[in-house]
Amino acid sequence: MRILTGIQPSGALHLGNYFGAMLPAIQLQDEGEAFYFIANYHSMTSLTEAKLRRQYTLDVALDFLACGLDPKRCVFWKQSDTPEHTELAWLLSTVTPMGLLERCHSFKDKAARMGDEIGAVNHGLFAYPVLMAADILLYDSNVVPVGKDQKQHLEVTRDIAIKFNHLYGDTFVVPEPRIREDVAVVPGLDGQKMSKSYGNTIELFAEEKAIKKKIMGIQMDSRGLDEPKPDADKNLAIQILKLVAPPGVGQATEERLRAGGFGYGDLKKALFEHYWNYFAPARARRAELAANLDYVDQVLNDGAARARSVAQKTLKRAKVACGLD
Ligand code: ADP
Ligand code: TRP
Repeated sequence: MRILTGIQPSGALHLGNYFGAMLPAIQLQDEGEAFYFIANYHSMTSLTEAKLRRQYTLDVALDFLACGLDPKRCVFWKQSDTPEHTELAWLLSTVTPMGLLERCHSFKDKAARMGDEIGAVNHGLFAYPVLMAADILLYDSNVVPVGKDQKQHLEVTRDIAIKFNHLYGDTFVVPEPRIREDVAVVPGLDGQKMSKSYGNTIELFAEEKAIKKKIMGIQMDSRGLDEPKPDADKNLAIQILKLVAPPGVGQATEERLRAGGFGYGDLKKALFEHYWNYFAPARARRAELAANLDYVDQVLNDGAARARSVAQKTLKRAKVACGLD
């Protein structure tokens, strides 16, 4: 079974990314042949600073390797090192109905947000699901683990694969989505979904002082320390604590808060401590990796070579099927 997923280098990774995408991907490494890539071509649809793209790409590589992605158990590379993605995207775009892309929520939402800036809504943003289909189909992927927000893009991929197979003969494996329904949405500092675009994140590897400031600054209600809090399970700090504290600690802390006599200041201090400890081993590994960038380069280069040998074969197959080769 081949498992494939892509991660956009669009900013520092946060707790939502970790529990929603990184940890599940890391855990899936042993269930099949895992192919994970840094989707830097995709990031071009929204990020136009070369320096930042280079920085975020390195950050994603360091974050994933530090958190347990093991290059011996998976193929990990940078998308632009396998340019076959863009060539296949052209072939696929000629069998993709416009209407299919026009219906994509993600495009409509992003276009609506960018609407006022002239020229902001670029063709890449519109064609993005076709590139994503190429990413997936190039590797004969069987399973594609993604968050709910990507479900529609996977349906587009399946439609494109079926259409191509119908027109040109059996060429592509039609992939199955694996939507992480079980993964809770991690709340951000303001209670909305944690997201880079809302500026409400707790980053995985920021400086101690900065994280402490963010956590101690979480807004709480004005109830006094002694008052019982029957709604303790809804408390933001409790919800995040349950993710990062050892089993049982989150629940026990919730009970203390519910009973009264346990203050919000102590709760936030506990959250910071557990967050800090949870990522301590990864933080140490990340520092080692950051001091050994040649190794990181080598991992990505080896990954690219392995990915490329698969990608070239599939592209060849597709070109023969449609009479280009
Ligand atoms: P952001 O919203 O910060 O821009 P992305 O959209 O780049 O994050 O997220 C990449 C993946 O990380 C998503 O597909 C989703 O699976 C996961 N993810 C992001 N934020 C959260 C969250 N708050 N809770 C759970 N999963 C999340
Ligand atoms: N579009 C995905 C996201 O924004 C990233 C991505 C690009 C991807 N290509 C992919 C995910 C292929 C799975 C498979 O999160």
